Amino acid sequence: MSINVSASILGCDLSNLESELKRVEASGADYVHFDVMDGVFVNNISFGLPVLKCAKRVSKLPFDVHLMITSPERYIERFIDFGADNITFHIESTDSIESCIKMCRDKGISVGISIKPGTDVSLVYPYLELVDMVLIMTVEPGFGGQGFIENMVEKIKTLNKKINERGLNKVIQVDGGINEKTAPQVILSGATNLVAGTYLFKADDMAERIRKLKQGI
Ligand code: DX5
Ligand code: ZN
Repeated sequence: MSINVSASILGCDLSNLESELKRVEASGADYVHFDVMDGVFVNNISFGLPVLKCAKRVSKLPFDVHLMITSPERYIERFIDFGADNITFHIESTDSIESCIKMCRDKGISVGISIKPGTDVSLVYPYLELVDMVLIMTVEPGFGGQGFIENMVEKIKTLNKKINERGLNKVIQVDGGINEKTAPQVILSGATNLVAGTYLFKADDMAERIRKLKQGI
């Protein structure tokens, strides 16, 4: 199974967004990870639709939009219209999980569901057939630069087992504290899409770090 890397621009120098996006592209990342926070679902505010629109203009990579907002059904269609290639929303953030999935399906983009570290993984099981990806948060969402929560590894393994038992082909994405030390264990546990912010943007040689993440070493 090949490993994809999604570069979280929350960790970049936002005053140089265009050059940071070019660096991501030139370094071999597979996706741009775009973290949207509303100050309600999580304790921070990041960026939203106008920034997505501008960022899309200067990057050829697909955009993986991670919505950390309450009632994402209010915004999903607009994020798609502004260029999201994948939308991932949190199951804790809405009572309309199936209609959020349908909004993405109807507009022909891929869709993921996510859970916070404190949420039981079994809560995603009813939706596994309906989504393309499950994002297991490996830090409390809201901020970059936090330490990986070690016991999330078990959660990834449990989810991977469930996906295999059902004979499904779904992507497990991980987000938070991913670096060359934590990547091997999440990959061994079944994750194939790694989000990384700090580890990539603090690097002198981003391409080397992306290679390391993909090799799991
Ligand atoms: C946190 C965000 C992450 C964050 C990851 O809520 O979802 O995407 O940018 O940053 P690092 O890789 O620094 O933990
Ligand atoms: Zn994220």
